[in-house]
Amino acid sequence: MTDPVRYEAHGEIGVIIVDNPPVNATGVAVRAGLVAAADAFAASDQKVAVLMAAGRTFIAGADIKEFGKTPLEPHLSTLIHHIEALEKPIVCVIHGTALGGGFEVALGCHYRVALKGARVGLPEVNLGLIPGAGGTQRLPRLIGMIPACEIFTSARQVGADECLKLGIVEAVVEGTPLEAGLAFARKILAEDLPVRRISAMTVAPYDPADLAALRTNVAARNTGHVCHLRAIDVAVAGADLPFFEGIKQERQGFWDLMQTPQRAAMIHAFFSERAVASLPELKGVVPRALGHIGVIGGGTMGGGIAVSCLLSGLRVTLIERNAEAAQKARDGIAGMLADSVKRGKLTPEKRDALLADALVTTDDYAALSDADLVIEAVFELMDVKKDVFTKLDAICKPGAVLASNTSYLDIDQIAAMTKRPQDVLGLHFFSPAHVMKLLEIVEAAKTAPEVLATGFALAKALKKIPVRAGVCDGFIGNRILKAYRTACDHMVLEGASPFQMDEVLEAFGFAMGPFKVTDLAGIDIGYLTRQRLAPTRDPRERFGDWGDVLYAKGRLGRKTGHGHYIYDAQSPKGRPDPELLEIIAEERARKGITPRAFSAEEIVERYMAAMINEAARVVGEGIARRPLDVDVTKLYGYGFPRFRGGPMHYADHIGLERVLATITEQAKTDDFFWQPAPLLQQLVAEGRKFADLNQG
Ligand code: 3HC
Ligand code: NAI
Repeated sequence: MTDPVRYEAHGEIGVIIVDNPPVNATGVAVRAGLVAAADAFAASDQKVAVLMAAGRTFIAGADIKEFGKTPLEPHLSTLIHHIEALEKPIVCVIHGTALGGGFEVALGCHYRVALKGARVGLPEVNLGLIPGAGGTQRLPRLIGMIPACEIFTSARQVGADECLKLGIVEAVVEGTPLEAGLAFARKILAEDLPVRRISAMTVAPYDPADLAALRTNVAARNTGHVCHLRAIDVAVAGADLPFFEGIKQERQGFWDLMQTPQRAAMIHAFFSERAVASLPELKGVVPRALGHIGVIGGGTMGGGIAVSCLLSGLRVTLIERNAEAAQKARDGIAGMLADSVKRGKLTPEKRDALLADALVTTDDYAALSDADLVIEAVFELMDVKKDVFTKLDAICKPGAVLASNTSYLDIDQIAAMTKRPQDVLGLHFFSPAHVMKLLEIVEAAKTAPEVLATGFALAKALKKIPVRAGVCDGFIGNRILKAYRTACDHMVLEGASPFQMDEVLEAFGFAMGPFKVTDLAGIDIGYLTRQRLAPTRDPRERFGDWGDVLYAKGRLGRKTGHGHYIYDAQSPKGRPDPELLEIIAEERARKGITPRAFSAEEIVERYMAAMINEAARVVGEGIARRPLDVDVTKLYGYGFPRFRGGPMHYADHIGLERVLATITEQAKTDDFFWQPAPLLQQLVAEGRKFADLNQG
């Protein structure tokens, strides 16, 4: 192992280089190395120092792997005070990203320069924490209370130019970190610039009304989280205290939060969303080239997939059923790109170039003859899909990857329509496909490793989070969804109201309650599914059919302005419709059910037990490789609260015995739906957790 921190003398300038791949996190060795380097500089003849990092980025923060373990000295904040206390000036050069503790190290230096393209941020709230090494105290002193609080409560990354405007850096420069650092150090020498400690500054006066507005906004955007407001409190308190008293308060807040389940959950999410992309069996497997993507079907999903590909620099050929439908698809894509322009994500010139040069819309399948990967997103009907894959097999070049975006259908059957089942896989995007981060990559029985690897390469190109799934009805996400959605219907039949369910589950942290989701997706979908399943339905199965009444009344959800809720100008986000309760009451009466009251705890307990039980089955059957794959699927595709880490992490947190006890209790009245998953039973018997299955 090379030294993670080096000290080099360049004439009158000392250069401290942090070199701890991959992202220069400040683990204990880096911290100790920085103290030693600062001491070496202090004792040397050099008059000014440069602090920089080697590799792709400046320091990305504290070493998150150390969190939850006994902290080892020197602590980061001590080290930063040590640097700031130097009697000779030190300039920090930021390249790549200076995040969390990395940015805090930069704030401990007397001057900062950023290379073009560099970004800084305090993303600790994404880990359930607050900045813990001076960020809440130094940043307000440097740039003012309101902009500082906005930066560390939003966790956003601030680009170099904005840093210059805000006064975070003295200059934005080009060149290598070493060149930039030496140049600024020479300026310090030439102009005799002094030591300048942020800790000695005071916070500029601000309007308390602006702070109150920010607090309200932050609270509304982060329901359920505990860290954001704590960060503001600590910053505000610190502004009126001597600097080191403020630091003490910050430290206390950081350590209090370090003990919370939210911190553990969010760090689990951080590592899990990276672990999903690295499957041991794909190590060294080279994906196929991706440049030209075919998309079949330009409806809701095909259009979004095409936009996602275009925005990532891929060429797209989209096939529709006829010229008119192809034009409609093109118009839809142009509309989505126009939105990107409106939101400042794309220039009008770039949009025009994408539409003119990178997108072909046609009804001629022959245009796919040189596509590298084709994604089918036609109607959810097996016969239509089989027809499409037969055509693709005849037209696509050898080695082209053929993918289906089906939500539920059997990819093996689809692959069997081709003479190249090894090239076929599922690529299950989520709606809206150019926004949602999750991509389920479905490995069929004969999918070749490099084809699976190509699915992961596509996800990377599209900046999506890929989760490998096996073939079954609904793969990971939709299969589990079906189970907990059914549990919801049971509770409504027994006496809970859909409005209560939504309220309780949103309070638990879900982005949207299940009945609001149904209104968004369309009540027709549930109706059609009930119709499809009716002939084969087991008589023991309990289900709610009030949706059929809503369907018959044309109340299809948001798209008709009326579903479980009423959507109009008065309440664009929906208000409960009292008539729904009458419709449900009639169904209960018809089924001989006497309704009873449900507590919020009972709703959460049953909802989560149904989710965890099906998830355990999905892992037990190998549909999901590890529990963490389920967690990431639910976090990124189904609005599961990140501060609870995902259903499997949550199950470990509340205890698997308790989950199994809920299932066993429910089975007393419905042993058809409530059958405990073998894996859950096994883990409880062995005294193990889902987390034990995440290793390796
Ligand atoms: N500690 C430990 N490991 C880290 C890390 C960190 N702070 N940041 C990244 N890594 C690891 C990743 O887990 C990954 O490991 P793997 O290769 O084994 O999967 C590897 O470094 C590369 O990371 P990415 O795949 O994320 O690389 P990218 O280039 O896509 O992104 C990044 C780089 C923008 C720096 C991104 O990794 C990131 O956002 N990191 C986290 C930054 C952060 O949250 N910092 C704050 C930490 S808390 C803190 O500093 C507390 C302080 O206030 C006291
Ligand atoms: P959609 O009905 O909006 O679009 C389907 C499009 O396919 C239509 O524009 C239609 O003209 C076209 N099409 C039909 N047959 C064709 C053929 N033979 N050749 C070329 N084009 C053809 O449907 P949507 O919602 O986009 O769904 C598409 C697929 O994506 C389905 O398999 C669905 O299950 C899946 N899916 C849907 C999600 C959603 O939220 N809507 C989410 C994830 C997957």
